[in-house]
Amino acid sequence: TYKAIILVGGPSRGTRFRPLSLNVPKPLFPVAGHPIIWHHLEALSKVKDLKEVMLIGFFEDSVMTRFLEDAARDFPKMNVRYLREYQALGTAGGLYHFRDEILRGDPQQLFVLNADVACSFPLNDMMQFHNKHRGLCTILGTKVARENANKFGCLVAKPDSNEVLHYVEKPESFISDLISCGIYLFDCAVFNEMKKAMLNKTTNVDQDPYQAQDDKLRLEQDLFRPLAESKKLYVYVTTGFWKQIKTAGSAVPANALYLEQYSKTSPDRLAKNNIDGKGPEIVGHVYIHPTATVDPRSKIGPNVTIGPRAFIGKGVRIRDSIILDNAEIKSNSCVLHSIIGWDSKVGNWARVEGTPTENYSTTITENGVKVQSITILAKEVIVKDEIIIRNCIVLPHKELKNSFHNEILM
Ligand code: GDD
Ligand code: GTP
Repeated sequence: TYKAIILVGGPSRGTRFRPLSLNVPKPLFPVAGHPIIWHHLEALSKVKDLKEVMLIGFFEDSVMTRFLEDAARDFPKMNVRYLREYQALGTAGGLYHFRDEILRGDPQQLFVLNADVACSFPLNDMMQFHNKHRGLCTILGTKVARENANKFGCLVAKPDSNEVLHYVEKPESFISDLISCGIYLFDCAVFNEMKKAMLNKTTNVDQDPYQAQDDKLRLEQDLFRPLAESKKLYVYVTTGFWKQIKTAGSAVPANALYLEQYSKTSPDRLAKNNIDGKGPEIVGHVYIHPTATVDPRSKIGPNVTIGPRAFIGKGVRIRDSIILDNAEIKSNSCVLHSIIGWDSKVGNWARVEGTPTENYSTTITENGVKVQSITILAKEVIVKDEIIIRNCIVLPHKELKNSFHNEILM
C-alpha cells in the first residue's frame, strides 16, 4: 500500500507570499476555487491503494482544522491528518521525526509532495516508472528556462535509464535545465538512508562543506546527494504542467493552469455561456463559486476565479485574475492580471491591473529592475471610483483615493 506526505511548512515561511499570507497560510490559499493543497489531495485520491495522507508542518493545529474537515468531506476514501513539528525540522526532518507514524501499517511506498507547487501530478506514471528501476527514490523532473534553473534542485541524469548522476540544490552556476519539481516517490526502505544521513550530520558537523550547519535534515542536501552517489535516485520527467507558487502573484498562473486542467478533466466545474444570453459573457476558462453574484452584463475570462459571496457589477471586465471571498467589483470597472483580496471593494469605473507576461512568468523588467507583474489587493482594501491601480501590491485595510503605479502601498 501507499501513503503520502505533504510538506506544508509553517508560519515563518511564505514571506514572499505576503500580503496574502497575512490572512491565510499559503498552502490554504485558494486557486481555481480550492486551497493549493486540495489539488494535491485530488491527485492523491486517484492513486489506487493510497488511503492515508499526512500533512507535516509547524503551523498551529487549529490552522488546519477547517481544511481537514473539508478534505474528509471531499475525499472520503482517504484519511487526511496533520502532524505538527515542534519547530522547522527541514524537509526530511519531519519525515524522520514521524517515521513510526508513517511506517505504521507497513506501507511499501511513500509519496512526498512540496505544498507550494501547482502540477498535473502524474503520480500513477511515476509509480509505473518507479517500479521498473532498482532505486529507492523517483523525483519528478521538468525542464525550465536555463536562466531560472539555479533557483531549483538541478539534476543530471543518464539519458537511457534516467538514473540521477548528480543532484545539486540551487547551484551557483548552471548545471542543468532539468530540475526537481519537489514531488517524490520513495520506497519505505529509504528511512534507513535517512537514519544514516542523520547520523552523518550529527557526527561530521564541521567536515562536510555541503551540509548546512543547523539541526535541520533536508531531503535535498542531506539525502539526495548520497542517494545519487549510490545509484539509488531516478528522475521521471513530466510533460504535464508544473509551476512553483512562491510569490503571491504566482497564484494567478497557478489558477490558470488548474482551470485549464478542469477544462480537460472536469469541464462541469467551469462557467458556461448562457445560451439565452442571460448570464455574463464568459471567455475561456472561468470558475465562479455558486454563492457569487455576477451581473449578466459583465464579461469574465479567460483564467478567472470568482470566490464565494463575491459581487460583480454591470459592465465589469475581469481577466487573468482571482477575486476572493466577499470582494465587490462595482459597475464598469476593469480588473486584469490581479488578485482582489477578501472583502475588498473596487469602485465604479476603476481599473486594477497588472501586466500581461509570457509563459506564466510573474515578473517583468521595468527600467532595468525586476518587478512583480501581478497587482495584489490584500484583505479589505478599498479602491475609490475612477481610480487606476497598476502593478501595485496593496497591504490590508488601505483605502486608495488616488491612482498609483509600480508601488507597494503599506
Ligand atoms: N514540514 C516542513 N518542515 N516543511 C518544510 C520545512 C520544514 O522544516 N521546510 C520547508 N518545508 C516545505 C515547504 O513548505 C515547501 O512545501 C517545501 O517544503 C519546500 O520548501 P523550501 O525548503 O522552501 O524549498 P524550495 O521550495 O525553495 O525548493 C524546493 O522545491 C523546488 C521545487 O519547487 C526544493 O525541493 C527544490 O529542489 C525544488 O526544485
Ligand atoms: P522570477 O523567477 O522571479 O523571474 O519569476 P518568474 O515568474 O519569471 O519565474 P517562474 O519561476 O514563475 O517561471 C520561470 C519561467 O519558467 C517562466 O518564465 C516560464 O518560461 C517557465 N515556466 C514556469 N512555469 C511554467 C509552466 O507551468 N508552464 C510553462 N510552459 N512554463 C513555465
